[in-house]
Amino acid sequence: MTTTASNPRETSAGLTTTRAPFIEQAKSEGRLYIEQPYELYTPANHDAWRRLYARMADRWQKYANHRFLQGIENLCLDPMHVPPLEAVNRFMAPLTGFRAKAVSGYVPAYMFFDCLRQREFPTTITIRDGEVLDYLPEPDIFHDIAGHVPMHTDKAFADTLVLFGECARAAAERAQVVADEHERVRRMTSVIKAMARFFWFTIEFGLMKGTRPGELKAYGSGLLSSYGELEHCIESPDVQRWPFQLEWVVNQSFEIDHYQPLLFVVDSFDHLFSEVGRLADWVTAGKLDNVSPGEPAISATDLASFLGAAT
Ligand SMILES: [Fe+2]
Repeated sequence: MTTTASNPRETSAGLTTTRAPFIEQAKSEGRLYIEQPYELYTPANHDAWRRLYARMADRWQKYANHRFLQGIENLCLDPMHVPPLEAVNRFMAPLTGFRAKAVSGYVPAYMFFDCLRQREFPTTITIRDGEVLDYLPEPDIFHDIAGHVPMHTDKAFADTLVLFGECARAAAERAQVVADEHERVRRMTSVIKAMARFFWFTIEFGLMKGTRPGELKAYGSGLLSSYGELEHCIESPDVQRWPFQLEWVVNQSFEIDHYQPLLFVVDSFDHLFSEVGRLADWVTAGKLDNVSPGEPAISATDLASFLGAAT
């Protein structure tokens, strides 16, 4: 006799990160772009969102860039429930054209940047387990919607993301003209590494000058979605904070499993936009073909996504 009883932990998991049967099913069928099956969120999923949101509110007021705070207001996020992406997009799209697009998992680097170019933001729909609010190696909907998306309501920031996408496209096209395959792979790996570092030290972990002398505010989503690190990045004497320098950033390795010991400060969103423009110029000029080795490692999937993009 066989039994068909499901694992009760699994059936009650709803859309909990790493334990969502819906996501596993989508992955097994090779579906990256998915819908958000809102009815699958459990009371525990909504409760995790509520608790994450509630404890961030004061810290955002204290440490977040004012455009992020404006974005939170513009999105009318519900502090009590995981947001339906449809509702988020209803408020966001009229402001900058950006839309959150549900995905089942990791989006290969080129596809991710190309989504940005088309004003689409690949968005994780699962939420972390309420038992472990602080530590999560994977992205979740709190990181993506409460950390990233408020910035996407700002026109200058949204245009910066689109320019990132243009930069990726230029990098992919440029690689096609390198005849020698080994050299093409080597250069492409270097350029992707440089772009990943730039993205990490700005969009994910960027700091910006505040309005008062000496004041710093966070605009990077990794900071804005972390209760502990948002305070640490501004207050801790253990963090090095340096004016943004493109030469440094593209050559600086980073690790993802602890608070960042080194952060870079931009003057303004116009400054950030102009630095992404310089990054694109450096791609075209071949100045990123030999960046410093080290983290992040570039996966075969990410490399293939760039090399296959222009064909
Ligand atoms: Fe992120």
